[in-house]
Amino acid sequence: MIYSRVIGTGGYLPEKILTNRDLEKMVDTSDEWIRSRTGITQRHIAADNETASDMALNASRGAMNAAGISAEQIDLIIVATTTPDVIFPSTACILQDKLGVKNCPAFDVQAVCSGFIYALTTADMFIRAGKCRTALVVGTEVYSRILDWNDRSTCVLFGDGAGAVVLTKSDQPGIISSHLHADGSYNNILSAPGNFSGGKVQGKPFVMMEGNTVFKFAVKVLEDVVNEALTENNLEVSDLDWLIPHQANIRIIISTAKKLGLPMEKVIATLDKHGNTSAASIPLALDVAVRDGRIKSGQHVLLEGVGGGFTWGAVLLCW
Ligand code: ACO
Repeated sequence: MIYSRVIGTGGYLPEKILTNRDLEKMVDTSDEWIRSRTGITQRHIAADNETASDMALNASRGAMNAAGISAEQIDLIIVATTTPDVIFPSTACILQDKLGVKNCPAFDVQAVCSGFIYALTTADMFIRAGKCRTALVVGTEVYSRILDWNDRSTCVLFGDGAGAVVLTKSDQPGIISSHLHADGSYNNILSAPGNFSGGKVQGKPFVMMEGNTVFKFAVKVLEDVVNEALTENNLEVSDLDWLIPHQANIRIIISTAKKLGLPMEKVIATLDKHGNTSAASIPLALDVAVRDGRIKSGQHVLLEGVGGGFTWGAVLLCW
């Protein structure tokens, strides 16, 4: 059997930190409101000249160093992002150039906060189909550029950052299974609906969200997709060593864990320090837990994401 395995992780957070106290000076909010409703205490914000591909480059270098691989060994690059450097070319192609990788497929995946799950699944399929050997899979976001900093209901939630993994062919699993879903009929509960026409932005280019609807939908589909992954692999919740959820809101994470009967000690949560970094949140959290030694060889790790579209999904790995 051909499998794919993660052999290195990397993460990058911009230097500038924006705390809840800082936000109190910008909009009518409070540290107490933000912490109690979301679990977030701070988020990182990209410098004015820092792009999604710049952050992806830093995270990729971390993952490549951890994996001990050079640019010549990469034969596929997939970048998950909602905040690309430019409309085109893709951020993956710009990253390819910055890394000095030659002549491999490179493309972006747009599934908002589920983007990394979609990208990892795609890379796994390329490897298992024999189309490539070593893939670089990245989630990178500069949400600070698509937030209305006068809208307290959204601007307190998000942060910037990038996470990356190196995935390579293996005869041992690896990625055990993946599960992708979308329901486009919910496209307008979470969106950045603006676009360009005649050289101008048409419509609202900032994040808009029906917070309560998103909350309920997220808890339901995240529970469903975890159960789907467990059932398909004849596993019980107790067989999971770690759950790494998309870092949107600690109340969504706690509700999902409670519904599943999974103790919070088995859940990796980084959103207090990172905020919601959309497609970057899962690889960033994974990198933190790999580097601090919580995730160990042979453990079952379940990654799960949910985001605009609406999209959701999970990837089960044996580490
Ligand atoms: N500071 C202070 N008050 C605020 C703020 C703020 N930053 N934002 C909203 N409020 C006010 C509202 O105006 C409202 O006031 P009102 O009662 O006078 O009208 C009150 O707080 C309650 O607002 P709700 O929207 O009902 O608050 P809720 O408890 O639902 O929390 C939140 C809002 C945190 C957005 C919640 O709905 C949520 O977590 N939703 C999930 C969405 C999410 O996490 N999105 C991230 C992106 S999606 C994703 O990644 C999957």
